Amino acid sequence: MLFRFGSIGSRDIAIDLGTANTLVYVPGQGVVIDEPSVVAIETAGGSRHVRAVGSEAKVLIGKTPEHIQTCRPLTDGVINNLEIAEEMIKHFIQKAIGVQGMLSRGPEVVICVPSGATSVERRAIRAAAFNAGGREVWLIEEPMAAAIGAGLPVAEPIGSMVVDIGGGTTEVGIISMKCLTYGTSARVGGHKMDEAITAYVRRKYNLQIGEGTAERIKVEIGSAVVTPESHLIVGHASGQDVAKGVPHEISVSQAEIVEALREPISQIVQIVESALEHAKPEIAADVIDRGITMTGGGSLLRNIDKVIADETGLPVRLAEAPLICVALGAGRVLEDPAYRESLCTA
Ligand SMILES: Nc1ncnc2c1ncn2[C@@H]1O[C@H](COP(=O)(O)OP(=O)(O)O)[C@@H](O)[C@H]1O
Ligand SMILES: [Mg+2]
Repeated sequence: MLFRFGSIGSRDIAIDLGTANTLVYVPGQGVVIDEPSVVAIETAGGSRHVRAVGSEAKVLIGKTPEHIQTCRPLTDGVINNLEIAEEMIKHFIQKAIGVQGMLSRGPEVVICVPSGATSVERRAIRAAAFNAGGREVWLIEEPMAAAIGAGLPVAEPIGSMVVDIGGGTTEVGIISMKCLTYGTSARVGGHKMDEAITAYVRRKYNLQIGEGTAERIKVEIGSAVVTPESHLIVGHASGQDVAKGVPHEISVSQAEIVEALREPISQIVQIVESALEHAKPEIAADVIDRGITMTGGGSLLRNIDKVIADETGLPVRLAEAPLICVALGAGRVLEDPAYRESLCTA
């Protein structure tokens, strides 16, 4: 089941190693893997082994017996468990290129790293790709890949600003002439939004909901601002009544979710404002003219583009395919040796 992609086309791959989702791009085929960055670990007889990775592991979250634990090895954009991260990277590489691919010459691999990754983490990511059979491994900064995937003119002497809201982090990059002239990463994104919804529902309704329920509510009815319809848009959440200890369901409106999300949204706005303050004058002038491009799953939250536009006074555009932008950008870099030499660290 794992190896069906291995027989066709090039075996080189580009990987978007995200805190929420890992995507693998193969030239000529596009995105062949798009799965949650989740690993389920089973402890048996004193030893630990990987029970499931990706989609198969995500469905287990909150439902496992004690000897199985699910984890996100990249929770905050930093690797919180090197060993498990390595297992996950290996799994996805092998799934993308198959055993035949591993046995032949080994793939060239381009991997996006969060701009906040330390040198130790970068070494670990590189080592994982080598251990998984990579022949050559190139690292590229995630905001750079996002900007390329969004079609921004990264090679020109024009300032382009990209805001990528992922699961664990929000990354902001300002790029000109193939350089990240300013890059920053903060530990706020889709997961913090889910936590904010969980905390709100618990506080207001005495109901403990799971991570998956909070995320579903966010995607179904979440918004960054209240609109005239917000009181009429309603979602349902089931969980456990904290006081009575019994299952219970509540209705919650979009207006309430806007209130719940206030803190993470304001943190995201602050990161964008601080990046604008750090931009050099000529580059800032370009950003004022050309606006901000948003990528990442978090940018799909309703009206988050409007909030950022209102707060900064700049035009804001959502990339065409926010969830796969980084993988497409990394793929472009993989396919173009000139890009690879100038944008990556080997
Ligand atoms: N329609 C949506 N509305 C709000 N959030 C969304 C939507 N779709 C996805 N997300 C959120 O986007 C995040 C994942 O985005 P992604 O760019 O894949 O993150 P990462 O790059 O960190 O893996 C998750 O927190 C997910 O809940
Ligand atoms: Mg990402």
